[in-house]
Amino acid sequence: MKIDIITIFPKMFVGPFKESIIKRAINKKLVEIKIHDLRKWSKDKHRTIDDKPYGGGKGMIMMIEPIAKALASLKSKKQNLNLKVILLSPRGKIFNQKKAKELSNLDHLILICGHYEGVDERVSKLIDEEISIGDYVLTGGEIPAMVVVDSVVRLIPGVLKSRETIKNESFQLVKINGKNLKLLEYPQYTRPEVYKGWRVPKILLSGNHHQIEKWRLKQSLKLTRQRRPDLLVVFLLFAKLLLPLTFLF
Ligand SMILES: C[S@@+](CC[C@H](N)C(=O)[O-])C[C@H]1O[C@@H](n2cnc3c(N)ncnc32)[C@H](O)[C@@H]1O
Repeated sequence: MKIDIITIFPKMFVGPFKESIIKRAINKKLVEIKIHDLRKWSKDKHRTIDDKPYGGGKGMIMMIEPIAKALASLKSKKQNLNLKVILLSPRGKIFNQKKAKELSNLDHLILICGHYEGVDERVSKLIDEEISIGDYVLTGGEIPAMVVVDSVVRLIPGVLKSRETIKNESFQLVKINGKNLKLLEYPQYTRPEVYKGWRVPKILLSGNHHQIEKWRLKQSLKLTRQRRPDLLVVFLLFAKLLLPLTFLF
């Protein structure tokens, strides 16, 4: 997979992509990530990429021309390539694990980081979608782009050592009684067995894998109901599904 990031602060990406799983994915050539300074596509010697908003108002708006030129140069000319151009924006659709999974199947992803008061609205003609990482406003699209890249790259086959890690994670779909449920992950423990009198649940030391699976599912359902009941709302409508599960609550 290839990821191109268009930004006016390329140095912001130096640290995050040189550590941990992303670094490993790059080294294993499972992903190629390139950071592009938008100013490269500016047309004046001051490398201007922003201007005042029409109609007045505070702040600056990123101009469409440098972005259009950047996209024209970065978009692959190859036919049938699975490509998406995404603008990071607080007005976009909220990012989630399902979207991360969908993006991890692309051949080529281009991310545009906005700054200042945002980007000229006509950029909508050049992109496939807008993504927000949450209902709050950040200074720029760089941190949201890092969030998207991190969550997408770890889902590319071969990046994580074991596919099992992904299978059991929060927000992964779990099939129960033929229906898909999105759950939070169950509680995890490691050594020591007792710390300040706080014990690891006995069942986890039993070696009984069937009972451990059952306990974990029960804990996942309990946690999801307590902390993220919204994830279960749709499924609560399926009485047929939840009736057989009531023993778990
Ligand atoms: C200061 S924000 C602009 C906010 C804009 N004036 C508004 O009120 O919607 C500058 C840039 O940061 C990025 N950004 C800020 N918050 C974001 C969020 N929650 N998700 C994704 N990108 C965000 C976008 O690229 C945006 O163009």
